[in-house]
Amino acid sequence: MSGKWLVVLLAGVVILGSLQEAAATETENKTHEFVATKEWQVIAEGQPIPKGLHVRINLQTGLKEAKLLDESERGTALQSQPEEEKIEHQDQDQDNEPLALDYKPDIIEESLRRVKEQKKSYAELRKAYKEFQKNFRTDGELIVQLIDQYRNFSKTPQESEMRSKLDCLENLEYLLHQIDNALMFIDNGGLDDVLLPIVVNDTNTSLRVSAMRVLGSLASNNPKAQIKVFEKNFGSHLAQILTSSGNAAEISAALHAFGALLRKFPLAQQRVLSTSGTQALIKVLQSSDVELRSKAKVVTLISDLVLEKRSVLEANKDAPEAASTMAQYVLLEFEPWLKSQGYCPAVDSVLTKDFLHLLEQPEVVEQFATALETTEDLCLDSWSQSSGLRHALLTVRNRFANSKDEYRLEVSQIVAKLCERLFNKPKHTELAELENRRSG
Ligand SMILES: *[C@@H]1O[C@H](CO)[C@@H](O)[C@H](O)[C@H]1NC(C)=O
Ligand SMILES: *[C@@H]1O[C@H](CO)[C@@H](O)[C@H](O)[C@H]1NC(C)=O
Ligand SMILES: *[C@@H]1O[C@H](CO)[C@@H](O)[C@H](O)[C@H]1NC(C)=O
Ligand SMILES: *[C@@H]1O[C@H](CO)[C@@H](O)[C@H](O)[C@H]1NC(C)=O
Repeated sequence: MSGKWLVVLLAGVVILGSLQEAAATETENKTHEFVATKEWQVIAEGQPIPKGLHVRINLQTGLKEAKLLDESERGTALQSQPEEEKIEHQDQDQDNEPLALDYKPDIIEESLRRVKEQKKSYAELRKAYKEFQKNFRTDGELIVQLIDQYRNFSKTPQESEMRSKLDCLENLEYLLHQIDNALMFIDNGGLDDVLLPIVVNDTNTSLRVSAMRVLGSLASNNPKAQIKVFEKNFGSHLAQILTSSGNAAEISAALHAFGALLRKFPLAQQRVLSTSGTQALIKVLQSSDVELRSKAKVVTLISDLVLEKRSVLEANKDAPEAASTMAQYVLLEFEPWLKSQGYCPAVDSVLTKDFLHLLEQPEVVEQFATALETTEDLCLDSWSQSSGLRHALLTVRNRFANSKDEYRLEVSQIVAKLCERLFNKPKHTELAELENRRSG
């Protein structure tokens, strides 16, 4: 809210205050006739007044007043009508100045109506402003409060507190996308007091999923936060969850956090992926409990990390100032680790066994095709010898090639190129054979 608005609001509040006082004293008698004098007198609400009086609304008290016209005033009171438009601006600029506003008697009702309308909107504004003042917190204060709230929950898990915990985490997920907020959370002990106990020890899956989303949110594109998350050993905790979970939401949240921790952070990649990390990713691919969609996320993360190293080395090969970055990536041997942990047969097996599901999910096919392409050199020997993989890919390619859906057609072309490279341009007779086998 801008400063100008606050000034306007405050002015409104002052005026409203006096209007409300007025309302309280205005319940005087409404029926007896107003007897005008040369002094200003309050006109009760609804009280009839004779014509030809000088009437004003005293904005200090909010009361309608009238008196007899002085000789000197004759004319001016009647001419005051054009002033009316200015009034609306005046009463916002002036605070405690008594504003004597002159009206012709026949415009009183209209003016009063307007003042009442203003009164209503001032009331709303004032309420909004009070609410704003009461609830106003900087993001930092809010984060500290959320951490405190979390510390206040009982140490033993209670079902009754679950909803509040989830709400608390949801708010954090939203707030911690911002770099400064994420660092504020970390500096105030949020990793130790909120996230670690959940990710490491909590038995409730929903809670773990929410906590890992917060972790993903705070570490994404935030190098300082990534370092802290890495130092707290979240890498191996996430790997542990990936290894043991069969829940799609949990695997998805863990992969998101895992990726946020590792991307553009070669040291963490080195430490986490050389130990349990690579194994955990491949374990997800091998698990029969995990759905295809989650496996596609795994191969996408693997492919991204392989490409990241390649592109850094490519981009900096002639840049001596990037030597230390280069050195970190050079040490990283993700591809050999993948190979030794069984990545090639694991991918082969997913596609061979699950290709019927692939036919319904072109976006998953695209993810796998991209990953296969990225890691082709690594696995060419085994994949090119795999008849199951060939059958799966050619079937998907052919099926999508006959589709009317543009996206499937596009994916079909990607798969076709991949097949050409992997299987060395199979002859048409072989294709026909495969097709016959599939439909037979
Ligand atoms: C107004 O005056 C009349 C009679 O003079 C009386 O009956 C009525 O109660 C008064 N109303 C108020 C609001 O004072
Ligand atoms: C936490 O508990 C303390 C003591 O009961 C209380 O004073 C404080 O307001 C609570 N904080 C939050 C954020 O709920
Ligand atoms: C997890 O629970 C164990 C056993 O109760 C405890 O020793 C450990 O400190 C807990 N870890 C976290 C991060 O809360
Ligand atoms: C986790 O807590 C939620 C909310 O109370 C509950 O609905 C759910 O069943 C719990 N899940 C587990 C695995 O305990």
